[in-house]
Amino acid sequence: MAEPDPLALLFSPQRRTVPLLLAPMAGITDWPFRALARHYGADLTVSEMIASQAMIRHTARSLKMAAPSVVASDSSETDLLAVQIAGADPEVMAEAARMNVARGATLIDINMGCPVKKIAKSNAGAALMRDERLAGRLMAAVVQAVAVPVTIKIRLGWDDRQRNGLTIARIAEDSGIRAVTVHGRTRAQMYHGSADWQAIAEIKAGIAIPVIGNGDITSPQTARQMWQLSAVDGIMIGRGAIGRPWLFREIAHYLQTGETLPPPPWQERKQIIQHHFSQIIAHHGPLLGNRLARKHLAWHTHGLVGGARFREQVNRSPDAASTEQLLTAFLAGVQEP
Ligand SMILES: Cc1cc2nc3c(=O)[nH]c(=O)nc-3n(C[C@H](O)[C@H](O)[C@H](O)COP(=O)(O)O)c2cc1C
Repeated sequence: MAEPDPLALLFSPQRRTVPLLLAPMAGITDWPFRALARHYGADLTVSEMIASQAMIRHTARSLKMAAPSVVASDSSETDLLAVQIAGADPEVMAEAARMNVARGATLIDINMGCPVKKIAKSNAGAALMRDERLAGRLMAAVVQAVAVPVTIKIRLGWDDRQRNGLTIARIAEDSGIRAVTVHGRTRAQMYHGSADWQAIAEIKAGIAIPVIGNGDITSPQTARQMWQLSAVDGIMIGRGAIGRPWLFREIAHYLQTGETLPPPPWQERKQIIQHHFSQIIAHHGPLLGNRLARKHLAWHTHGLVGGARFREQVNRSPDAASTEQLLTAFLAGVQEP
C-alpha cells in the first residue's frame, strides 16, 4: 500500500483546527527546541536553514542541522522531517534536496525569505524573489529531484516597489510546489513594522495550493485574527514561541473552544526548562551544548525574580555540569512568577 501523503494529512479537511507550524529560525530551532514545540502541539516544525553549498560539501554543522533524530522519538501520522535549504543554484539545490531525502527528510522547504545581506548577495533567500525566472527554474529543479513534497517560504516581495509574492506563489504552483508559507513583510522591512496579514490574504485567494500565514502571531487572539482575515490553511509561529513553547497548545485550544488556557503550572514549567537543557546537552554535546543552552535558559528565565543574576552566572559557567548545578539550585529556590 502506498504511504499516506504527509502534507495531505497535515491539511486534511478532517482536522479539528488549522495546523500550527513552528517557523524555522536559524540558531534557535534546533532539534531540542523543535521537540519541545511538538510536545506542545506544533503540527509541523522545520529545520533551521541549511546552506545548500555547505550541505553538498558535507560540513558537519549542516548535517547536524538536518539531523533525522527530530522525528525519531515522537512520531505520529503527520510527523514530517521538514528540512529547509537555501541557495541560488538550481543544480546545487537539487543535489542538497536529494541528500536530505536520502538522510530521512520527508519534506523539503526552499528558503526565499531570508533578508540577510550575505545570503542576498549570492541571490539566495529573499533575493530569489527578484529573479522570477531563476526562482521558477530552481523550484522546478528541486521538485523534479525528489519524491517528497517541496514547499517554499517567501516574503511579500523585495520592497514596496516589488511586491511580487503572488506572482512567485503562482510560479510555485505551476512548478509543482505543494504549499507556500508567506511572511507578511518585504525584505526591505527586515523584521520592522508589522506583518501585513491582508497581503497574505491576497496571496491565499490567488492560488489553489495551501498557504501558511506567518508574522507577528504572539497569542491565541492574534492567531485567530490572522486566520479569520486571511483564511490561510496553516499558521506559522516563530518568535512568539521562544521561551513559551506552550503557545501552540494555547492557540489550538482557543481556536477550538474560544477559551484562553492558563499557562502551564509552575512545576511543569520547571520540568520543561530542565528537560530542555538536558536535551540540548545530549544533542549538541557538553561543550557546544553549554554555549547554546545560555540563550534558551535566558529566555526561559526572563522575568523571574533573581533571573538576571542567574543568567550572569550561566554566561560564565565553564561547563555543562556546572550549568546544570546552577540551574537546579536556581529552580529549587525561585518564586513562582
Ligand atoms: C533569529 C531568527 C532566525 C530566523 N531564521 C530563519 C530561517 O533560517 N529560515 C527562514 O525561512 N526564516 C527564518 N526566520 C524568519 C522566521 O521564520 C519568521 O518568518 C519571522 O520571524 C516572522 O515570524 P514571527 O513574527 O512569528 O517570528 C528567522 C527569524 C528570526 C527572528
